Amino acid sequence: MAQRAKHSDPEPSGRTLVVAATGASGARLAVRFLGHLLAHPGVGAVHFVGSRAFALVAASEEGKKLPEMLKGLPGREKLRLYQEEQLDACVSSGSFPVDGTIIIPASMSTVGAVASGAGRTLCHRVAEVALKERRPLILVPRETPLSLIHLRNLATLAEAGALIAPFIPAFYQRPGSVEALMDHFFMRLFDHLGLPSALSTRWA
Ligand SMILES: Cc1cc2nc3c(=O)[nH]c(=O)nc-3n(C[C@H](O)[C@H](O)[C@H](O)COP(=O)(O)O)c2cc1C
Repeated sequence: MAQRAKHSDPEPSGRTLVVAATGASGARLAVRFLGHLLAHPGVGAVHFVGSRAFALVAASEEGKKLPEMLKGLPGREKLRLYQEEQLDACVSSGSFPVDGTIIIPASMSTVGAVASGAGRTLCHRVAEVALKERRPLILVPRETPLSLIHLRNLATLAEAGALIAPFIPAFYQRPGSVEALMDHFFMRLFDHLGLPSALSTRWA
């Protein structure tokens, strides 16, 4: 059973990452990415927060609740889970050391909240903390088409230092499955996090 992190928890060896999943389509992106992170020997701890809308979308897309979706993931002892209301979580504070934060998938609502500095939930807060502490922040937005407001919010976040990485599949590696498409994208995210991986083949 994953536990809530306490400030007294020992420092993990390996990277400490924060993953937030919000209510955009693609709940499986969050779960598969989480599994790859937990399995990676260079990752010591993953703090995961899912919004209420994420749970709703996951139930509608996968027909499962979060605990069932997380069942069977490797490295569960590295995982700490939070609710979006837990604004007193360790990851809510810039004083808690974190090596990188990823919002996957990122809804336009969360993008707007973070871009305007009007965050209300722990998902918003972890992104705001990453920006103010000048730590790596990756956003995986999902919406189509994008309104001018969406584009402006994304540009604001890019200007503030976030990496905007929409899940736009590559086909040059000739993927044979949706999982292969996702893994190629995840390999690119791992590259940006400085985590060596062989999740897919590279263009050579
Ligand atoms: C099935 C379903 C799919 C959705 N897909 C998207 C989407 O792809 N992108 C998006 O920005 N919002 C999407 N939404 C709307 C968000 O869930 C909604 O804006 C919500 O308030 C986001 O809250 P959060 O950012 O706190 O998770 C979807 C909602 C549902 C129920």
